[in-house]
Amino acid sequence: MATTSFRLRNCEFKNRVFAASGTYGYGDEIVDLADPSRLGAIVTKSLSLKPRAGNPPVRIVETTGGVLNSIGLANIGVHSFLEEKLPHLRSMNTAVIANIAAGTVDEYCEVLRILDDQEGIDGFEINVSCPNVREGGLSFGTDRAAIADITRRLRPMTKRPLIIKLTPNVSHIAEFARAVEAEGADAVSVMNTLIGMAVDVNTRKPILSTITGGLSGPAIKPIAIAKVYETARAVKIPVIGLGGIVNTTDALEFLIAGASAVQVGTVNFVDPSAGIKIADGINRYCDEHGIDDVARLVGSLDAGTGISVVDSWL
Ligand code: FUM
Repeated sequence: MATTSFRLRNCEFKNRVFAASGTYGYGDEIVDLADPSRLGAIVTKSLSLKPRAGNPPVRIVETTGGVLNSIGLANIGVHSFLEEKLPHLRSMNTAVIANIAAGTVDEYCEVLRILDDQEGIDGFEINVSCPNVREGGLSFGTDRAAIADITRRLRPMTKRPLIIKLTPNVSHIAEFARAVEAEGADAVSVMNTLIGMAVDVNTRKPILSTITGGLSGPAIKPIAIAKVYETARAVKIPVIGLGGIVNTTDALEFLIAGASAVQVGTVNFVDPSAGIKIADGINRYCDEHGIDDVARLVGSLDAGTGISVVDSWL
């Protein structure tokens, strides 16, 4: 069987398939449905300093090949997470990546400081890319200086892996990846959701309470792969790819395009064991193709005589 493990700084993940933030809760809702110990990591729902109720309904709507959400970073807050969720999450025998969201740079620092004191957190994913809130979210994620500043402030606060989750809602995502790489980020997650909108034609009103939301699911997969390809050509740090992965072939596409690991998101709402099936499927593919380490797939794209337009932006 091929080697599946993946290292980021001082953390060894057993495989390269993670559950994406916001689609696996804090792990506890899943245990009767799937075995999280077979995933490389669980990324928690974004944690903020204080609990957040999130946006009013309607905050989720199905679209063709996707889901539009405007959850508004609803979460129980970092203190309740430590008391009520982390003990169970720690017992699941998989790595735990805490996703952090905040409205100010000081809040990011405070939440990370509180979490970094704890056993059982293996790394941090910094959410600077939620499209559904007025403070934080995209106001940081679309500003290169701001995300560089956040990374610069957070880097010295932890020895654990620091992953910055980038938005695709910019012209050239690679510039943002370079900005956080220069400030010491260990990896980037590419990508968060695309801004989208749905209209009820009978009422002529927007369906979501916030009018626009974030689109995820298979509809965005080709865009996400292109963003991973662009980013992986621009930085030396690992790119963790996500966006519409539902099966093994999808995950392989991301790895071949340059992702060092993948996150499985929206499909968890349909099949919470999708990530496990994908991890198994990657192993099978490696066996069938005589590949001894999944790492050999990463960036193995044979572009042939293809002319890379992306390279002209880098
Ligand atoms: O609205 C939300 O909670 C979405 C978060 C995100 O996409 O990062």
